[in-house]
Amino acid sequence: MSMIEIENLSAFYGKAQALRNVSLRVEPGETIAIVGANGAGKSTLLDSIMGLVKNTGTIRMEGQDVTGAKPGDMVRRGVGYAPERFNLFPHMTVRDNLLVGAYTAREDIDKNMDAVHRLFPRLAEREGQETSTQSGGERQMVSLGRALMTSPRILLVDEPTIGLAPKVCVEIAEVLRRLSAEMGLTVIVTEQNANFALSLASRLYVLEGGHVTAEGTAVELAKDDQLAKSYFGA
Ligand SMILES: Nc1ncnc2c1ncn2[C@@H]1O[C@H](COP(=O)(O)OP(=O)(O)O)[C@@H](O)[C@H]1O
Ligand SMILES: [Mg+2]
Repeated sequence: MSMIEIENLSAFYGKAQALRNVSLRVEPGETIAIVGANGAGKSTLLDSIMGLVKNTGTIRMEGQDVTGAKPGDMVRRGVGYAPERFNLFPHMTVRDNLLVGAYTAREDIDKNMDAVHRLFPRLAEREGQETSTQSGGERQMVSLGRALMTSPRILLVDEPTIGLAPKVCVEIAEVLRRLSAEMGLTVIVTEQNANFALSLASRLYVLEGGHVTAEGTAVELAKDDQLAKSYFGA
C-alpha cells in the first residue's frame, strides 16, 4: 500500500489553476523528488497534500481517503512539512522554534529532540540562539528539525537547497539520506536543483506548468535527451 497516492490533483488560487491532473505515489520508506522550475507548482503540490490549498482530485494516505483533510489532521496522521519559506519565529531561540513542532507529539519531545540533535549537532550547540541571527543553512536545519518534532512517518521538504552554498547542500542531502536509511522515513522532496534530487531519490517526477511531464528512475529519465539537457545538465 502506498504511503501517499495522488490521483488527478488540480489546485486553484481563485480562478488561476496551479496544478493540472497530477498523479503520483510514494511507497513506504521511499524517497521521491519533484523536479521543476520556478512557478512549476512544486510548493502548491506539497501545500495541497497538507490541505493548505483548494484542490480537486483524490489524495490517499496508506489507503485512506484524506482528500480535504485539514493541516492539523495531516500532521496527526504523520505528515511532517518543511516549507519553502520556513516561517520560523525570528526572535525565538532554536530550541523554542523546534518545540513549536512538538505540540501534537508532546510525549515524544525528548526522543525527538535527541534525534534532531544527533542529525544536526550544530542545533544542539546553538540551542539558545535566536534564529534571526542564524545562517540560511542553519535555518533550513531548524525547519527540518521542527518538522521532525511532529513524529512524522513521511516528510515533505520544499526546495531545501534554495540559496544555500554547495557545501551546505551536501550536508542537507546527507541528513535526508539518513532520515530514510536510519529512521525509515518516507520523503517527498521538491527541487530546482535536479542533480541534488538525483543524488537522493529513487524515482523523480518532472513538473512543468502544473503538469507532470515525465516520471521514472534516474536511468529512465536520462534516456530522454531533451529532458537530460533541460534538467540534468547532460
Ligand atoms: N498564493 C498564490 N496566489 C496566486 N497564485 C499563486 C499563489 N501561490 C502560487 N501561485 C501561482 O501558482 C503557480 C505555482 O506556484 P508554486 O507552487 O509556488 O511554484 P513553485 O513552488 O514550483 O515555484 C505559479 O504560477 C504561481 O504564480
Ligand atoms: Mg516553491
